[in-house]
Amino acid sequence: FYGVEMAKPSVYVTRQINKEALDILNQKCDVSVWAGPGPVPRDELLRNIKDKSGLFCMLTDKIDSELLDNAGKNLKIIATMSVGYDHFDVNEIKKRGIRMAYTPDILTDATAELAVALLLATSRRLLEANEEARTGGWKAWSPFWMCGPGLKGSTVGIVGFGRIGQEIAKRLKAFGPARIVYFNRSEKINEAREIGADRVSFDELLSVSDFISVSCSLTPDTKEMFNEAAFKKMKKTAVFINTSRGGVVDQDALVRALEDGTIWGAGLDVMTPEPLQVEHPLFKLRNCVILPHIGSACSETRNDMAILTAKNIVAALTNQPLLTELKV
Ligand code: DGY
Repeated sequence: FYGVEMAKPSVYVTRQINKEALDILNQKCDVSVWAGPGPVPRDELLRNIKDKSGLFCMLTDKIDSELLDNAGKNLKIIATMSVGYDHFDVNEIKKRGIRMAYTPDILTDATAELAVALLLATSRRLLEANEEARTGGWKAWSPFWMCGPGLKGSTVGIVGFGRIGQEIAKRLKAFGPARIVYFNRSEKINEAREIGADRVSFDELLSVSDFISVSCSLTPDTKEMFNEAAFKKMKKTAVFINTSRGGVVDQDALVRALEDGTIWGAGLDVMTPEPLQVEHPLFKLRNCVILPHIGSACSETRNDMAILTAKNIVAALTNQPLLTELKV
């Protein structure tokens, strides 16, 4: 009737987000936001999701059947502010007919940039060198002090040759490696030709690469694919970089490989669990650079990721096509 407003669909946001994204949601939805500084506690999320139509979540929120049961029948869209969706129980979500959205593409450049930064920080020992300089370890310029392997003339191996893997390869190419190889489920003929990368088997990649950069998603197939056997196949001089998910690595095997010199060094932006406890053996290793999962942490990128997530939710709740629907 005239003057009677339709109730707006309700959306729960699991973290403080930027104003632009919030404004997009507020125009069409009744929004509640977790006000705490960190991730929403599980019990709080389970309570607040009840009867909501949309969920704006992060990779820190586990979306499983317990959560979906608590949400009830109204839930129509779950949008994560991430490209990775291994925190989703995809089958359970699909079974209930709930749509999913994620943020591919817009974070590709930021993540590739970080992978290159991490690779160089690891191979050229930037953190270790900085620590020495700050704490009096820098006595004099020394001919073989703080040396590490260079990219020029090396073989670079990319595991997971999707959007991010390809952008990492393009950036690393500028450093003049002799060869770029990749391992990927499917062949990427045109993309690989353009970059000048060769598709090889996983074992071959492990044994020929001086630098191994991981950018595949975490699936049952990739879970702990970097195990003891894999590290043993690598060169003793290999630098291992992981910006995908900690779950692709058998972390205890990595610790051993770094401790006993099976490989030269590792740079990790992701690990298990996150955050990694400060007492963890990885933190004690000089040949391991650890970052707190900041792959996409460019200000513009994070802004855009939140905006895209908000737009996806509004689209789903107003029966429009989603901008980046997750169809798996
Ligand atoms: C993602 O989006 O999955 C990254 O890991 C964080 O931006």
